[in-house]
Amino acid sequence: MSIDSTASQRGLFIVFEGGDGAGKSTQVAMTRQWLENRGARVATTREPGGTQIGEKLRSLVLEHGHGDIDSRTEALIYAAARAAHVQQLIAPKLAEGTHVICDRFVDSSLAYQGMGRSLGFSAVSAINDFATTGLKPDATIILDISAADGRARRIAASGGVEDSDRLEAEPDDFHERIRGAFLELAAKDPRRYLVVDATGSVEQLQQEITTHLAGLL
Ligand code: TYD
Repeated sequence: MSIDSTASQRGLFIVFEGGDGAGKSTQVAMTRQWLENRGARVATTREPGGTQIGEKLRSLVLEHGHGDIDSRTEALIYAAARAAHVQQLIAPKLAEGTHVICDRFVDSSLAYQGMGRSLGFSAVSAINDFATTGLKPDATIILDISAADGRARRIAASGGVEDSDRLEAEPDDFHERIRGAFLELAAKDPRRYLVVDATGSVEQLQQEITTHLAGLL
């Protein structure tokens, strides 16, 4: 597809994935700017969230204070938020020719709930196929980071205090399993994934990402 795509052409669905503290939001913003500089229409969004109901589900699943949330309930809340996101925002934007850049998507559920919470890839995949009606990203960029580096960055970003949501508060071995899951998913489909070392400079990462995306546009 040409980068100067007309409204009748479907937009590209680009997803950023990676551990907590990998620097996804910076790369999402820079990638949006890069695409806009080329005259494309772009929408950026995030999961869980992106819709009114999705933001409500986000606070339910991420904030402390809602009592116990078992793993299956957690997986279903993420999937419910995703169903609304696809129906209300992602699919309509893509259909009108807008590129959609999303901070996290199904692979986060496969990694965090499938691997991190030990529900398995196939069960988590099944509920997400239902939620998304099978929508898949055209490109997934994985910002690879070790659990220790991710934690150090989160602490630095919050002014030296460890202020963790429910998932971030999990121990390093949980986050290392997440990392392994993302790399496993990428290895299965190298054409659709780009894995970048998140400890590189912001500019270096953006260069690798835009080179990859230019190949798709
Ligand atoms: P967020 O503050 O957006 O983290 P980040 O900036 O690292 O993306 O919180 C999202 C958290 O939710 C993050 O810890 C990963 C987790 N998560 C899941 O466990 N499953 C999912 O399907 C999604 C989308 C996120």
